[in-house]
Amino acid sequence: MADKKFELPARGKISTVELNKKLPKKSDGLVVGVFHDDNVVEAIETAWLGGSLLREVNDALATVKAKGTANEITRLPAPKKLDADVIIAVGLGSRDKLDDEVLRRAAGSVSRAVKDLDSVAVALSDDREQVTPVVEGLILGSYSYPGIRGSKDDGVDKPEDKKNKSDKDPAAFTVLGDPKKDAEIFRFAQVGAESVCLARDFVNVPSSHKFPESYASFIRGFAEDAGLKVEVLDEKQLEKEGFGGILAVGQGSVRPPRLVRLHHRPRKAKKKVALVGKGITFDTGGISLKPGAGMGDMIMDMGGSAAVVAATVAAAKLDINVELTTTVPLAENMPSGNAIRPGDVITHYGGITSEILNTDAEGRIVLADAIARASEDKPDYLVEAATLTGHQMLALGKQTYGVMGSDELRDRIAELGRTVGEKAWAMALLEEHAEAIKTPAADIRNISEDRWGGMQFAGTYLSQFVGAGIEWAHLDIAGPAWAASASGYTAKRATGVPVRTLVAWLNEVAS
Ligand code: BES
Ligand code: MN
Ligand code: ZN
Repeated sequence: MADKKFELPARGKISTVELNKKLPKKSDGLVVGVFHDDNVVEAIETAWLGGSLLREVNDALATVKAKGTANEITRLPAPKKLDADVIIAVGLGSRDKLDDEVLRRAAGSVSRAVKDLDSVAVALSDDREQVTPVVEGLILGSYSYPGIRGSKDDGVDKPEDKKNKSDKDPAAFTVLGDPKKDAEIFRFAQVGAESVCLARDFVNVPSSHKFPESYASFIRGFAEDAGLKVEVLDEKQLEKEGFGGILAVGQGSVRPPRLVRLHHRPRKAKKKVALVGKGITFDTGGISLKPGAGMGDMIMDMGGSAAVVAATVAAAKLDINVELTTTVPLAENMPSGNAIRPGDVITHYGGITSEILNTDAEGRIVLADAIARASEDKPDYLVEAATLTGHQMLALGKQTYGVMGSDELRDRIAELGRTVGEKAWAMALLEEHAEAIKTPAADIRNISEDRWGGMQFAGTYLSQFVGAGIEWAHLDIAGPAWAASASGYTAKRATGVPVRTLVAWLNEVAS
């Protein structure tokens, strides 16, 4: 029987952005960049703001004692000659420290600060290089998750301030730029940022509405719209083909697992890439139950799958010239009379057996099957992302993801991550773990005997399933996939990390 069709129950609204060489005739706000150097604030001169207007803005900034430090937002009444209501000055800090991430964060801060306006013109500098980070920052910063709300037509006439704020559309932005010359970089930034928001949408959905069958259906909808070929294996097909890891993790839930595969096949691609992502739609820990505090955050345990799916959608929309197959194992990790037990031995896709000593180390179990399957296609590169271990946060904190795998690819991805503003750090896999993974009960065990280097142990576990000769990388995004508070261009909750790293890397492989 075919799976039912499901739609995302809630999506974040995002701003529209267009480029224009001319200042729009009328806008609610005009955004200017402001430097802070030697304790002087100075607005940046652009094609849209110079001469006496610029002097007037600088005087007003001095009067209200604006500082111009990074991300500072100052609202000023617009000079009479301008057909705008307010000037929004955003701090960029010191002139010599200006880079893409400063611009991206400033644009994101603007976007979060102008939710009350409808039309906003943005000129942070005349430099064409500003287009990419500014467009990205504006779109990413405009996103906020609206939640699942009761019917608006509840018959009760609410006072204005009690109305749902998320009903208002975010501001429409016009950015200083050349719509013809900058068309390609603009589209790349826009599609990339919108894909990040798609990943955020997937991750933000609670597990009441997101389980393997419904999530597979959400993915199918967006993937088919982008022109991707989609395959979904249900529990019977998983059984038939021997996906013992995915079935083992999924067996405790009444909502059976799925495996989704997406295919992007440009005609003349020279390189073949496999993406894989962890798709645990909720992680209770299973019989090795997690403590209750904070367990609700485990709706995000499919962040890796969301990121690789969104990057694949972007690759299709941008026509990135690589042959790409994306494999995401989806399962819900629940304790029940039917759940796997510590001590059980399971057989993965491809035949390796594994002793499950902790059912909360479930990500690696489903990923092992998916990596083994993806390896059969003999890709040149295999890149996998997962909210895999709490140890990632112990080692690197909440904002920096860990990258493990083949030396060269690992280092390149970590570097690209930092370039696009998704902080990343390369971690070496440890020789000691090759020993620690052994057990008398099966080929390998799913946790080590001690807790040290838990992120790398998980990486070593996954390495057992990567086919010979494939360059691979494993991205542990446990911390960076989710934000407890908003900052820069990142809203609270799902962040969409590492979508932009993946899109940038795919683009590099294609060129
Ligand atoms: N999904 C968790 C990892 C996680 C923790 C992600 C917090 C995001 C925030 C993963 O399945 C897990 O439970 N890992 C265990 C592994 C341990 C049992 C070896 C962990 O890190 O504690
Ligand atoms: Mn777990
Ligand atoms: Zn998990």
